[in-house]
Amino acid sequence: MDKITISVIKADVGGYVGHSSMHPNLITKAIQMLEEHKSKGTIVDFHVTACGDDLDLIMTHRLGYDNGDIHKMAWDIFVACTEVAKQLKLYGAGQDLLSDAFAGNVKGMGPGVAEIMFEERKSEPVIIFAADKTSPGAWNMPLYKMFADPFNTIGLVIDPSMHEGFTFDVLDIFENKTVKLNSPEDMYDLLCLIGASEHYVIKNIFKKSGEVAAASSTQKVNLMAGRYVGKDDPVMIVRCQSGLPAVGEVLEPFSMSYMVSGWMRGSHWGPFMPVSVEDAHPTRFDGPPRVIALGFQINNGTLVGPRDMFADVSFDLARKQANEVANYIRRHGPFEPQRLPLSDMEYTTLPGVLKKLKDKFK
Ligand code: F6R
Ligand code: MG
Ligand code: MG
Repeated sequence: MDKITISVIKADVGGYVGHSSMHPNLITKAIQMLEEHKSKGTIVDFHVTACGDDLDLIMTHRLGYDNGDIHKMAWDIFVACTEVAKQLKLYGAGQDLLSDAFAGNVKGMGPGVAEIMFEERKSEPVIIFAADKTSPGAWNMPLYKMFADPFNTIGLVIDPSMHEGFTFDVLDIFENKTVKLNSPEDMYDLLCLIGASEHYVIKNIFKKSGEVAAASSTQKVNLMAGRYVGKDDPVMIVRCQSGLPAVGEVLEPFSMSYMVSGWMRGSHWGPFMPVSVEDAHPTRFDGPPRVIALGFQINNGTLVGPRDMFADVSFDLARKQANEVANYIRRHGPFEPQRLPLSDMEYTTLPGVLKKLKDKFK
C-alpha cells in the first residue's frame, strides 16, 4: 500500500507523582520497543511523548486504519510500561487497560486512538495535539474554528482552494452514531450539536473532495468501563497548508484559553492551557487541563520533528488567561459551574455518594 497512516495511540498506564506526569522510564521502555518494531519494518517511524500522565505513541506505517498488528504493538507497549509502572509503584499502574487480553483492536479496551491515512503531498506538515485532564469534546471548538470560522481561518475567505469549506463527521457518543455535516452549508446544525461537547464529538474532518484533513480520538474510558476510571485525555491529528488551514490557523484557536470539562477528578470545568512539552505536567488542583502540539513534516513516512509548537511566547497570554480563569472559577469550589452539571457527574465517582444518601430521602 502506497498510502501512509499516522496512528496516535495513547493510554494512562501509571502516573508520576499521582496523576501529574510521566516517569521517564516508561518513555524509555516505549522507545525501546518501538525501535525494535521499526527495525523489523512494521512501522516506518515513531515518536513517543507524554502530556501529564498520558503516554502518547505516534507511529507511521503503511498498514492502514485499524490494523491489528499496529494496535497489538501499542497494546503490548502499554502492558510492558504498566509492568515498569508497577515496579516503581507509580500511581494507577495500568489504569486505562480495561482488559487482561488483547482482542484485535485497542478501541473499546481503554486506550484512545486517532488515525489518519493519506497520500503524502509534495510537502506534508502535520500537527499532533495531546491533552491531559479533559475529554474528547475538548477538540470541538478548536476544530470548528480551524475549519469553519473565517474569523480564525482567513484562508476560508481568501484561498480559492479552501473556499468551498469542509465536511465534519460528528459522533453521538451515547448512541454511537455519526452524522456528516457540511460547512458552511450546515453550519448552524453543526454548532447545534458540537456546542454540546460532552455529547457530540467531531471525529473526522474532510475536504469536500473526500480527502481527510483531521482525526481525533473519541474513546470515553468511563463509558467503556461502566465505572469511573479517569478522564479520556484525547489526541488529535491535523494536516496543514496547501488547501488546508495553515499551521498558524491550526494553532490560533488555542490563543484563547477556553473552558473544557475534566480537571480534578474529571468533574470540573476548567481553562484549557496550551503549553510546551516541558510544561505539560498538571499540578494545581490536578490541572488546569493541558494541551501540547507537536509539529512534524512527514517525509516518505518519516517524522521530521517534532517542533514544540506551543513553546512560543505568543501563547503566553493564553497561559496567563488560563491561570486567571483558574483562580476565578476555583473560588466556586464544589458549586456549579466549577463542578460539572449532574448529568455529566454520572460518569464520575459521585453516583457512589448519592447511593449512600438514597435511603435518607423521605
Ligand atoms: C482526573 C484525574 C485526577 C484524579 C484525582 C483523584 O482525570 O486523573 O484528578 O481523579 O487525583 O484520584 P484518585 O481517585 O485515584 O485518588
Ligand atoms: Mg491518571
Ligand atoms: Mg491523564
